[in-house]
Amino acid sequence: MKFNKHITKFPENFLWGGATAANQIEGGYGGTEKGLSVSDVYIFDENTPKEQWTDQWHLMTHKQVEEAQIPSSTKYYPKRHGIDFYHHYKEDIALFAEMGFKAFRMSIAWTRIFPNGDELDPNEEGLQFYDNVFDELLKHGIEPIVSLSHYEMPLYLATEYGGWVNRKVIDSFVRFATTVANRYKDKVNYWMTFNEINAVKHHPFVSLGVIEENHPHLEQAKYQGAHHQFVASALVTKEFKEANPEAKVGCMMSYQFLVPYSCDPDDIQATTEKQRESLFFSDVQARGYYPAYTARMLDEKNVVLEMDPEDEKIMREYPVDFVSFSYYMSSAVSSHPEKLEGAVGNLITGGIKNPYLPSSEWGWQIDPKGLRSALNQLYDRYQKPLFVAENGLGAIDEVGEDGKIHDDYRINYLREHIKQIKEAIMDGVDVFGYTSWGCIDMISASSNQMSKRYGYIYVDQDDMGRGTKQRMKKDSFFWYKKVIETNGEEL
Ligand code: BG6
Repeated sequence: MKFNKHITKFPENFLWGGATAANQIEGGYGGTEKGLSVSDVYIFDENTPKEQWTDQWHLMTHKQVEEAQIPSSTKYYPKRHGIDFYHHYKEDIALFAEMGFKAFRMSIAWTRIFPNGDELDPNEEGLQFYDNVFDELLKHGIEPIVSLSHYEMPLYLATEYGGWVNRKVIDSFVRFATTVANRYKDKVNYWMTFNEINAVKHHPFVSLGVIEENHPHLEQAKYQGAHHQFVASALVTKEFKEANPEAKVGCMMSYQFLVPYSCDPDDIQATTEKQRESLFFSDVQARGYYPAYTARMLDEKNVVLEMDPEDEKIMREYPVDFVSFSYYMSSAVSSHPEKLEGAVGNLITGGIKNPYLPSSEWGWQIDPKGLRSALNQLYDRYQKPLFVAENGLGAIDEVGEDGKIHDDYRINYLREHIKQIKEAIMDGVDVFGYTSWGCIDMISASSNQMSKRYGYIYVDQDDMGRGTKQRMKKDSFFWYKKVIETNGEEL
């Protein structure tokens, strides 16, 4: 009998780096041919009560979408501006290189290549922009890891086609993916198809382009849209492999490690069911078929999926090569949630606050050990390489009197999580990279704030987009540089 050697270190070629998304950093809307994406319709308004800032992410109405398309609107749409990475990419990539990044996770804005989504020919200006970004990364020895869809489908596909519920959107997506697969086949080896694919359940507008008012049976719309994304993901995996046989394609989900609130058997069963609701998405993409529990789960939701005869075949032929996920928090599950305090987070529905854990300023519960459990659970389940695509702490940072940003709270958060990744590697889990979220400050996905910062690099910009956009190194910048230099030995 043979065992693998007990590994006690991060692998030599571990991909250390940081993660971003086009809609949160790029800007470069207006004066370019970029079209509006679903994320470009979210406003930030200082006068809206703080408790309501994330509401619009979960529920988008026709009225809001229409208002967002009025050219003379005086409202502030932060994701149209980002942090102007579009014009600062060289400076920003030089800073990533100074930290020693081995990898940079980013997304391609679909609307920069196909502004409405259904055009037949791509926009050369958009393609050239990503050529420039990839060249700059490669010049510094940084591996690009690219998401195709990170909450940024063309708005036109949402308003005119009804989003991913409409099967025709698959064709538009495959055209987009085939274009970038062929264009960047010599520059990009790692691809992710849909960011946080399980988020279709939590915020269907940014994930699927689905406006809830149109769907009295919303669950049907969500699962039908997800099915179309599964098929699209398999079809584009085929395209990537044909363009570049070295290409590795992964799925990406938001992972919240769930624990039972108590040892009451009902809490335990509720936890199993809730965890499955989320792992369902990676089950399909990693295995290439619907798991056995699907039939009962969909039946109880009164969902009937429409499938084409060839869907199952393509899904089986092209499952993903690796499984990636975001990890920010864990939460507890109770069979009597109404009696307990609810957990807070960007993708939590019905989780319970765990009394053993501290919380961030936004109420997200901090549980580094949950990351080790998550990695073990996913590896046991799929035996596929894992990639931690996002993890980080959103916090208010102040520039001190000495002109510096002393973000020891962020260093502590990241240190504890990285320690647990190492533990998982020692457990035998195959983890090949870590890109912490928001390596540079950017617009928050859920609240559209700028002041919810995650970066190693501070950007002088406020919630209304005012500021010089000057980049400054925080204490965490120097700390992470050391972590990478020592391959995770010095934390
Ligand atoms: C993930 C998203 O859900 O969490 C990112 O993939 C997002 O886009 C990150 O920015 C942190 O969430 P937030 O809302 O604090 O920006």
